Amino acid sequence: MLAAAYSQRGSADEVLAVREVPDPVVGPGEVRVRIHTSGVNPTDWKSRSAGAPIEDYLIPNQDGAGIIDQVGAGVDPARLGQRVWVFHAAWQRTNGTAAQFTALPAGQAVPLPDTIGFDQGAGLGIPYITAHGCLYGDGPIDGLTVLVAAGAGAVGHAAIELAVFGGARVIATVSSQEKAQIARAAGAHVVVNYRDCDAAAQIAAAAPGGVDRIIEVALGANLELDLAVLKPHGVIVTYANEPTDPTIPVRTLMFANTTLRFVIVYLFTGQQIASALDAISAALAAGQLSSLPTLNFDLGDIAAAHRAVESGFTGKVLVHVE
Ligand SMILES: NC(=O)c1ccc[n+]([C@@H]2O[C@H](COP(=O)([O-])OP(=O)(O)OC[C@H]3O[C@@H](n4cnc5c(N)ncnc54)[C@H](OP(=O)(O)O)[C@@H]3O)[C@@H](O)[C@H]2O)c1
Repeated sequence: MLAAAYSQRGSADEVLAVREVPDPVVGPGEVRVRIHTSGVNPTDWKSRSAGAPIEDYLIPNQDGAGIIDQVGAGVDPARLGQRVWVFHAAWQRTNGTAAQFTALPAGQAVPLPDTIGFDQGAGLGIPYITAHGCLYGDGPIDGLTVLVAAGAGAVGHAAIELAVFGGARVIATVSSQEKAQIARAAGAHVVVNYRDCDAAAQIAAAAPGGVDRIIEVALGANLELDLAVLKPHGVIVTYANEPTDPTIPVRTLMFANTTLRFVIVYLFTGQQIASALDAISAALAAGQLSSLPTLNFDLGDIAAAHRAVESGFTGKVLVHVE
């Protein structure tokens, strides 16, 4: 099959190339998916650029969408021909989604409703599963007020939509008018520019009793703001690291009984993944999830697609295989 692949870690232009590689072999309990669209996330360029030496080659990209064309032993043959979105395709495996086919455990190929296109499906995996784990790590959110930093980021956008679907009131922060529109379109009830000098006052005005949970992309940069608007017994959930680790004001957090939670989607429990998939499927079926603006590439332009994510494109970068 044709695939984008790299044999050494490094910059996209230096190491990524499209070439012929062996078709992935479907093992017991696995399915093979003919990829229509591959979604690119920051994790894809980060793992391409640095890490352990590579034995042979790796095909990048965790997320994608397509059609099941082979099933392994123990998988219901009725799944042949099923439209699916896939997640964690390249996690500790060779065959990511930037290829004509990928093979992966059947549970990582999730039915895609007929009403949802492959492009939207390819944007679900990492952002929505991460967002769900952030939102629900401390119990239900119905009736709570959730502050979502990075309201136009892929995870932030997913967090807004899943929080609204879960019955929360959502305040989102962004850094521009364009990003504010994206956050509002996702359903955020209030949007604040975190660069405004009175950002904390704007959030406090929207949530006079404080916010219950904060889904945080930049803990160090936003900690002062977060602590100014978080209720006692509130939760800050961080899913991204920054170039420098923040200093934590322990006494302040202690006397507010604040919970600081950190998440890494690759190591979610089976229960966390199952509950995320249930919520995402329900929200999709209810028509409550939308796509970010997209930037589209062909498989041959894989290096440009990785570069676009690396440079912080606002929206979803997609690679079209078919
Ligand atoms: N732990 C995990 O499991 C996990 C899962 C998914 C992603 N991640 C990581 O999370 C990060 C974001 O991923 P993504 O896919 O959502 O990226 P993305 O689509 O590029 O979004 C990042 C967003 O963060 C915003 N931002 C940056 N600094 C901010 C600040 N101080 N306050 C508020 N917003 C800020 C950016 O907008 P402005 O700069 O305009 O504010 C941008 O909208 C990446 O580092 C990724 O590797 C981790």
